Amino acid sequence: MSSILEAIETKKRGGELSEDVIRAVVAGYTSKDIPDYQMSALLMAIFLRGMGYEETLALTRAMAESGRRYFFPGCADKHSTGGVGDKVSLTALPIVAACGVPVAKLSGRGLGATGGTVDKLESISGFSCNLSEERFRKQVEEVGLAILEAGDLAPADKEIYALRDTTGTVDSLPLIGSSIVSKKAATGAEFLLYDVKCGSGAFMKSLEDARELARLLVRLSGDFGISASAFITGMDEPLGSAVGNALEVREAVRFLKGGRTSADLSEMARRVAARLLELSEAMDPEPAVERALSSGAAYEKFQKFVEAQGGEPEALEGLAVSREVQEVLAPRDGYVSRFEAAGIGAAALALGAGRQKKGDEVDPGVGVEVLVKVGDSVERGEPVARLYHRDERGLRRAKELVEGALNLSEQPPERQPVILESL
Ligand code: URA
Repeated sequence: MSSILEAIETKKRGGELSEDVIRAVVAGYTSKDIPDYQMSALLMAIFLRGMGYEETLALTRAMAESGRRYFFPGCADKHSTGGVGDKVSLTALPIVAACGVPVAKLSGRGLGATGGTVDKLESISGFSCNLSEERFRKQVEEVGLAILEAGDLAPADKEIYALRDTTGTVDSLPLIGSSIVSKKAATGAEFLLYDVKCGSGAFMKSLEDARELARLLVRLSGDFGISASAFITGMDEPLGSAVGNALEVREAVRFLKGGRTSADLSEMARRVAARLLELSEAMDPEPAVERALSSGAAYEKFQKFVEAQGGEPEALEGLAVSREVQEVLAPRDGYVSRFEAAGIGAAALALGAGRQKKGDEVDPGVGVEVLVKVGDSVERGEPVARLYHRDERGLRRAKELVEGALNLSEQPPERQPVILESL
């Protein structure tokens, strides 16, 4: 029997796949010897039956070894499971690099309502994440911060993820865990922080699921010799205020330059940076983070990084944000009890900031800026959000979505901490 038929037969009965079978299937699918219909059947069997830890580790290893592997000892990386308005990489990583711990990071593009760091950075004129191995390595050494788009690293994951996306098999814990860690293991950084998002705007809607994923990511990473840690962070409302590519870079720049930004973004950036410094045991983390910000070193590092990847540092002062702006107003007085990340993300998507399906073009200049956060009091008629749009495309739908995302209460709600748990 072929390896794929053996795997389907075993998994559909709830059996355990051997490492040899897993390797043969991953290699066969990557080389296109195994057709999509057979791989889909296996993925659905895994989705329904699950996978034990040893199987998940074997799958992760097979995917990590399906292409090139880099090694960046002494370097840091972070990974977010995807959220709305998540600009933590843009804010925390320049701080880490400015503190002398080099960052070698692999990033992806956005899909659906969750944005991707590559799309955000590409809103800076000239910027590219398409780096050769040599250029990536040189930049990590010379600038201390480089971000690469997943290309020939873990190619098996790229193929399998695309198939999962169209076969209803994305939200499976062993498949998510192996997909994420295979890419991180192939990138080769030594210190890694996972930001597992939890809430309406995230893959993981419940704290229990987020906790299970966080534990799996840390355990798998440990088996690849990576010193990893995880935060579980709230994603019921967007992080910070901007949702959309150039808008988010603009907010990140404002933060790095010491301008006014939302308390949640400011806390997340600082805590993520501090935890990465702690993992590398290089220095006393909190004072180092504050020094990097107050001295301007973190922003300077960001500018050098942008320049090294082809971007124009001057473009950071005038990002291509659309000039067409419409405000959304509060329908009555009250306290903001929810401002749903899922609805705001969908509104940004309707305006053209994200892609509905792979390969769609994104508009870098559009998106949503929320002007109020959970716990704030608002008066009827007060602006609660701004919609940055291009012509009338998606504007009405976006307005409805933002209005639907806003929940007001009579009493002030309890505010959630930004970081729900740490492990
Ligand atoms: N992000 C990934 O890289 N893979 C998944 O499976 C889900 C989120």
